[in-house]
Amino acid sequence: MAQEFTFTVNGVECTTTQNKPLLRYLRDDLHIHSAKDGCSEGACGTCTIHVDGAAVKACVLTTALAAGRNIVTVEGLPQDVREAFVYAFGAVGAVQCGFCIPGMVMAGAALIAEDPEPTEEQIKYAIRGNVCRCTGYKKIIEGISLAAAVLRGEKQIDEDLERGDDYGVGKRAFRIDVRKKVLGEGKYPDDIDELDQPGLTYASAVRSKYPRARVLSIDTSKAEALPGVVGILRAEDVPVNQVGHLIQDWDVMIAQGDITRCVGDAIVLVVAEDEATLEKAKKLVKIDYEPLEPVRNIVEARA
Ligand code: FES
Ligand code: FES
Repeated sequence: MAQEFTFTVNGVECTTTQNKPLLRYLRDDLHIHSAKDGCSEGACGTCTIHVDGAAVKACVLTTALAAGRNIVTVEGLPQDVREAFVYAFGAVGAVQCGFCIPGMVMAGAALIAEDPEPTEEQIKYAIRGNVCRCTGYKKIIEGISLAAAVLRGEKQIDEDLERGDDYGVGKRAFRIDVRKKVLGEGKYPDDIDELDQPGLTYASAVRSKYPRARVLSIDTSKAEALPGVVGILRAEDVPVNQVGHLIQDWDVMIAQGDITRCVGDAIVLVVAEDEATLEKAKKLVKIDYEPLEPVRNIVEARA
């Protein structure tokens, strides 16, 4: 019989026979989307959850290692903690795109549970593994500090602020999407799954390995033959393949015979019925390049 791994997620006992990253189990099997997948490799902190009360990155933990543990995500935090963070992050303006925010909340909540009156230095240390690419850290640190003060009963939640009854020039404003972003309920493209969209297909680009190279040939025949592959799109399939803010000289996908401009330029887009097939198919796409000297600065570009 296959080995079973049993643990508790937000108070509910869960059992699986699959040994895989806990983040994938939470997102794909339990459809818990507050834990975001920002990197899949322990670098960004968007997937931070609590394991037996400690902040842990769910992408580096596996279902096997989680066996016997008590897992909590933003959905499972006590209601007063959830409300304190919604108010605090909204009041100080700590939420921009919000992608990092549930992870920040979990890192902050673990700290506050351990020390209800954390110092700024302790907060900085608690979120040292959490990356925010748009708010910056000052507001997030202030938000965690304010949430702690609310939970200590030293600051009160101002419900009018979230309702926006008194908006005006020169007054504090609470973003309208703070609540769903803090609580991880906002849907980003990666949060849309089979429950939202039955028959969903998955797409991902095969990208250039070279900063500058001529694409000599693209062979998608093996990938196309793989069962579950829906299609493979190339530059010639894109109706408007050149985009750009000032001059439209930026290729959506690099066509055979054209030259890549950076590592990561898309060459083809593979579409498949599921993510496992997608990853297999991407590996079967064969691209031959002629590597060229990269253009590294304005002087080289002008030359
Ligand atoms: S997704 Fe886990 S650290 Fe980035
Ligand atoms: S709010 Fe956008 S990444 Fe932090």
